Amino acid sequence: MAINVLVIGSGGREHALCWALSRARDIGKLYCAPGNGGTGDVAENVPLDGMDFPACSAFCRDRDIGLVVIGPEAPLCAGLTDHLEGEGIPAFGPSAAAAALEGSKGFSKDLFAKYNIPTAAYGRFSDAETAKAFLREKGAPIVIKADGLAAGKGVVIARTVEEAEAAVDDMLSGRFGDAGAELVIEEFLTGEEASYFVLTDGEHILPLATAQDHKAVGDGDTGPNTGGMGAYSPAPIITPSLEREILETIIRPTVQGMKAEGRPFRGVLYAGLMITAEGPKILEYNVRFGDPECQVLMARLDSDLLDLLLACRNGTLDKATPRWRPETALVVVMAARGYPGTYDKGSEIRGLDAAAAIEGVTIFHAGTRREGDKILANGGRVLGVTALGRNVTAAQAQAYRAVAAIDWPEGFCRSDIGWRAVAREKTGA
Ligand code: AMP
Ligand code: GLY
Repeated sequence: MAINVLVIGSGGREHALCWALSRARDIGKLYCAPGNGGTGDVAENVPLDGMDFPACSAFCRDRDIGLVVIGPEAPLCAGLTDHLEGEGIPAFGPSAAAAALEGSKGFSKDLFAKYNIPTAAYGRFSDAETAKAFLREKGAPIVIKADGLAAGKGVVIARTVEEAEAAVDDMLSGRFGDAGAELVIEEFLTGEEASYFVLTDGEHILPLATAQDHKAVGDGDTGPNTGGMGAYSPAPIITPSLEREILETIIRPTVQGMKAEGRPFRGVLYAGLMITAEGPKILEYNVRFGDPECQVLMARLDSDLLDLLLACRNGTLDKATPRWRPETALVVVMAARGYPGTYDKGSEIRGLDAAAAIEGVTIFHAGTRREGDKILANGGRVLGVTALGRNVTAAQAQAYRAVAAIDWPEGFCRSDIGWRAVAREKTGA
């Protein structure tokens, strides 16, 4: 039976989800709200705001939507899943109570402590003097985090105690609103970062894939942090035995802990990990697919995405077995010049068809809009140029071939996405 699906969001993640859903066996009508210049090719874009809950449920009733797939964290943390399910509309994504795993760093750190999940040592503070006393006692480097959602800007790695004190004052100054009313201060961990994605229905855990992303704007991981300038999957640093360790010491206790707390987690659990000399530790959870990581996951997925998301929503994940293509996928993000600072919108992007014709390449749109036959830049991160290859080196070469075919002088990208894994492949390590 055909199922009508509504995807909420407008990034590369949502284009990748729509692209995969459009190929599902049982897909009926597919909508994306509000979508972008790319989602319009595989779904119908609708001018709906994911934070306007009554408008979303009214749309779903009117169009007989059988599943809403919620991409970003903001509507999840605000309770869109609870609202839709309360109206009898099936939704993929955690309840607000479960989304606190991303929405409150204090909540998640307390959960890790209670269930013995390896993480950085920490303290929670709402008062500057107590926070500074703690800082002075611990010394630098040290990490200061706003408790709530801060669009990726709520983390400061302080190299000196002075810098740490300034970060405490800045965050408690009200710049982040309620998100900064409380802080987590934690031990600085060293190691290599990697991500791990699983689906869970609150009970069963279905491992999806590993990935590594590149947060810094510049080559060699220099310059300010962004939402992500590129990623690849799988991440060779996560060996099969390390993956088992992550599942048993981090993911399973989290899923069981959330159930025991009366906040069963249903949806994608995205673990941001530090692989330290003492083993893997959890830096943070996100309660949604990563962006751009979702683009490489969808490029590799060789199973029906709608079946997987429905099994997750319906509590039958134990019966699901995703298949993955044998290749590695790598995405290079093209952004508007100036990002993550100020940038212009409206420049035209040419050469997309030629780039997409390159073998193994799929181009996902993020901040774009269509105007007649033209694709115009409409945001900071604009395109995700995604390629498959037999290893990271091959996928990287193919992705940059496609980047070279894109004619967009107002854009830029990093030239070294995948460098850690490429270096490993060179030395055979
Ligand atoms: P988060 O939003 O908590 O993932 O933090 C954003 C980024 O800050 C992470 O991807 C890490 O690069 C860095 N980070 C966060 N916490 C720590 C930590 N305890 N030690 C070292 N780096 C960290
Ligand atoms: N790429 C990082 C994120 O989606 O949060």
